[in-house]
Amino acid sequence: MSSAKPLPVAGPETGLKVLRGLARERSLLAALEIMRDEVGPAFQITLPGFQPAVLVGPEHNRGIMVSQRDSFRWRSPSDPVTKLLRHGVLVEDGEMHDRLRGAMEPVLQKPQVIRHVPAMLAYTDRVLDRWADGSVQNMLVEMRRVALLIFMGTLLDVEFGPDLERMWEPILRSIKYISPGLWIVWPNMPRPGYERALAQMDDYLYDLVRDRRQSLARRDATGVQPAADLLTHLVQIPEMSDDLIRDQILTMLIAGHDTSTALLAWTLYLLGQHHDVMERTRREVDNVLGGGPPTAEAVNNLYSLDAVIKESLRLYPPIHVGNRLVAEDTALSGYELRAGTRVMASIYLSHRDERYWEEPQAFRPERFERGGERPPAFTYVPFGGGPRACIGAAFAQVEAKVVLARILQRFTLEDVGRPVWPYMGATLEPHPGVFLRVKRRPA
Ligand code: HEM
Repeated sequence: MSSAKPLPVAGPETGLKVLRGLARERSLLAALEIMRDEVGPAFQITLPGFQPAVLVGPEHNRGIMVSQRDSFRWRSPSDPVTKLLRHGVLVEDGEMHDRLRGAMEPVLQKPQVIRHVPAMLAYTDRVLDRWADGSVQNMLVEMRRVALLIFMGTLLDVEFGPDLERMWEPILRSIKYISPGLWIVWPNMPRPGYERALAQMDDYLYDLVRDRRQSLARRDATGVQPAADLLTHLVQIPEMSDDLIRDQILTMLIAGHDTSTALLAWTLYLLGQHHDVMERTRREVDNVLGGGPPTAEAVNNLYSLDAVIKESLRLYPPIHVGNRLVAEDTALSGYELRAGTRVMASIYLSHRDERYWEEPQAFRPERFERGGERPPAFTYVPFGGGPRACIGAAFAQVEAKVVLARILQRFTLEDVGRPVWPYMGATLEPHPGVFLRVKRRPA
């Protein structure tokens, strides 16, 4: 720590540029980009009550996610994320985190995920069947429907269709509750207006746990199969209380559908903006699927679509920042970090760092095709890295390919020209939505 230097801070001139950028772009991300350009890839924000260290690039990412991870922790008791998710794997540290993660990983590995492809397709079709030919659809809303039906139907084995409308508002309120807001600078501020929605979520989730325990108890003990879905799997672990299971399934529900919603909506937005890429990707889908449904094997062969998804995750990573608290005084890449400091590893800025990417602001899926760019490890981290890397990465990627392949197979899409900007909610969303005209293709 002794030879480490304090993090640089922005001077008044940069402050003015940041304010102008904020007014122009309507996005806090634009402000962070200006700070990075003016001050460098490591800096401290110095607002009253909010002084995080913002760190950008592979060296910092590797330190936070892997090599110095024990100097950082996730859990922050005053944070609404912790208040809502309680003992969810996302907000636990140390042994408890590792135990919860170890309990859930078996059902989220690729071979298990692949088994859900037919169900992913069926739920996608259910939403697409509602699209009238020639209508304009808000893909932010439609992709949330798809992601929720898929998450609940596959990972919890719950038919969510009948509850979707009733639970829509409580789910959105729960997401709003943990989205960045004034609570960051005023952690104990009163937050009225959430109680009812959060109680509704809890009632729903505890009912699911109780119902599943009962239906398993009714089965003949010899007939119990290893669980294919997460809820059944958790219920069968003797140490898991109803409270602890509620915490995990709420964590997975939020982390597992809000991110996929954002990824799908952003990818459709980018395709709507880049007609040539959309047509190239559609040709691949038609060739590989040959008119049949997307199967587990076929989605593995959709290389152009895979590159489009990766490039979408680069430009608009749904989790755009890795948040941590410094657990003990430490030094990272020569900068001192004091215990208690909030650290923001900016995935968004790493993905647009011109030291490592050619034309970082451009949408160029080719960079992820064979022979494309090779930035250093830990520059591209849409799913994080190390022992806290996204537990649902395989699920999210298979799901994205099934859903997008099916949309391209069944519809042509046309952007209707409504402006979109990145909004920092619980995930980075295309705000106010992605409006596309959908036209059915001949079967
Ligand atoms: C496009 C979709 C997704 C993206 C971009 C994404 C991104 C991420 C990232 C960047 C992290 C690490 C955060 C950090 O280091 O602070 C993470 C962690 C996590 N993700 Fe995802 N995620 C996605 C989908 C999912 C899905 C489908 C699930 C569950 C089914 C899921 C569950 C989780 C959980 C539980 C963690 C915490 C893991 C831990 O702390 O050990 N995510 N995700």
